[in-house]
Amino acid sequence: MTGPLPGGALTGYALVTGASAGLGASFVRRLAAEGRNLILVARDAERLEALAAQLRERYPIDVEVLPANLGTEDGCDTVAARISAEDKPVDTLVNNAGFGLYQAFGNAALERELQMLDLNVRAVLVLSRAAAAAMAARGRGEIINVSSVAGFLPRGRAATYAASKAWVTAFSEGIAALLKVKGVRVTVICPGFTHTEFHARAKADMSGTPSFLWLDADRVVADGLADARAGKVISVPSKRYRAIVALVKLLPRPLVARLMAGR
Ligand SMILES: NC(=O)c1ccc[n+]([C@@H]2O[C@H](COP(=O)([O-])OP(=O)(O)OC[C@H]3O[C@@H](n4cnc5c(N)ncnc54)[C@H](OP(=O)(O)O)[C@@H]3O)[C@@H](O)[C@H]2O)c1
Repeated sequence: MTGPLPGGALTGYALVTGASAGLGASFVRRLAAEGRNLILVARDAERLEALAAQLRERYPIDVEVLPANLGTEDGCDTVAARISAEDKPVDTLVNNAGFGLYQAFGNAALERELQMLDLNVRAVLVLSRAAAAAMAARGRGEIINVSSVAGFLPRGRAATYAASKAWVTAFSEGIAALLKVKGVRVTVICPGFTHTEFHARAKADMSGTPSFLWLDADRVVADGLADARAGKVISVPSKRYRAIVALVKLLPRPLVARLMAGR
């Protein structure tokens, strides 16, 4: 599918979660350059305000700042309410906020693992549900969920993170066909290692990761949005990672699990 969606072009607001840093900030800058009005969501209100001020100065767009902790029910409800609003409708939802823990299963505090599921899974479910209802009623819209190549892999050191992303990918693929007939496009973007704040926040030692495995955040976003607009449901940015995912699917699963046990 190319060009505008059935039901009209997407001219309404684009709401991006995790907009204050990394891939989310890249999404926001690109959508702003395309002339889209924006709603920026993350916890750090000061950072969001600073980014919004830069964007307003540079582009003739409206930028709303909506600070929220999406790891909480209140935070999700606040953002879901904005997505459901009929005034200044949201045509694009980018579920991007997420974090990882690079500790062997059982070593990270259970509380942190549960917080990760709240953000990486629960928030994606709550916001996608609100968006699907509002967008289907208007017959137009798009939901872009940021998953990970990790979601294709069984991992020992990041088991809960990988499983949370497997959920995001499977969930997005599942609802894509259902919502397409209602004029709503769903794409799940699965990046590999990307230069952002993600690994520093996870306190991950990435010194052994070869340089060819690192992606640029702006490139990931450009490729992901191009795939979304081409009607792809699953987007794996870069040839390198498409080759890795293809290989993982060919290899016997027990072998993959053994190779990934310590990763
Ligand atoms: N970087 C990679 O290598 C990589 C690879 C594959 C997939 N991904 C995925 O890409 C997405 C974006 O990650 P990134 O790499 O851009 O990481 P990042 O640079 O650490 O940015 C994470 C963003 O999420 C926000 N956030 C964190 N916790 C939040 C919460 N409880 N409520 C609301 N917002 C919250 C952060 O802002 P505040 O701290 O202000 O809330 C920040 O804006 C994630 O879903 C991640 O799993 C990343």
